[in-house]
Amino acid sequence: MNQTNSPINVVVLISGSGSNLQALIDGQQDGSLPINICAVISNKPNVKGLDRAEKYGIAHSVINHKTFDSREAFDAALQAKIDSHTPELVVLAGFMRILTPAFTQHYAGKMLNIHPSLLPKYQGLHTHQRAIEAGDDFHGVTVHFVTAELDGGPNIIQAKVTITPTDTADTLAKKVQQQEHVIYPLAVKWFAEGNLTLEKNHVVLNGKTLDSAGYQLEKII
Ligand code: GAR
Repeated sequence: MNQTNSPINVVVLISGSGSNLQALIDGQQDGSLPINICAVISNKPNVKGLDRAEKYGIAHSVINHKTFDSREAFDAALQAKIDSHTPELVVLAGFMRILTPAFTQHYAGKMLNIHPSLLPKYQGLHTHQRAIEAGDDFHGVTVHFVTAELDGGPNIIQAKVTITPTDTADTLAKKVQQQEHVIYPLAVKWFAEGNLTLEKNHVVLNGKTLDSAGYQLEKII
């Protein structure tokens, strides 16, 4: 467990539906995750994830990137808002923004992202379609620490799914999202319990340095 044995404060950043946010809320609610989601921040107004926060009485706000002149100005405002909640962990849950190096450095070792591919494959957008078009047998999802590289920080955990001949980008996305809702809470739990750290750009889980692919969830759907 973490040193105080108490829940850690977590800020979640979203841009959309917030199904990964929901998986974390569920874990907090049922007691399986020792976290206190103290704020949800979206860069887009009127998204479903904000309704989810509202429903559970979680502080929520919008910092609309379109109202800023530069990436730096947006990140500075976002950072100030996040830090006003003094989180121990920042979770990017479908937060679709490229972040400045100053911002990612500020949260080094304290910020996680989930990306729908088996990183380092398919950074960026349209990952499901790209995996199908490449003729891959497997696709999947990765949780990683955030660094200045887009979708590129050290891997923490991956889950694989099988690509079948009838899969479309939509069916594949659904399979991947099921796995997202398993591995993101797991990674957050490891972090909250003090068992997951980033040390000199290497991921350490339960005292052991993971290889570059990260922990591999055994069950493949
Ligand atoms: C998730 O599939 C997540 O992996 C992806 O956005 C979706 C958000 O869904 N993230 C990225 O593509 C990051 N590069 P959600 O809003 O329902 O959690």
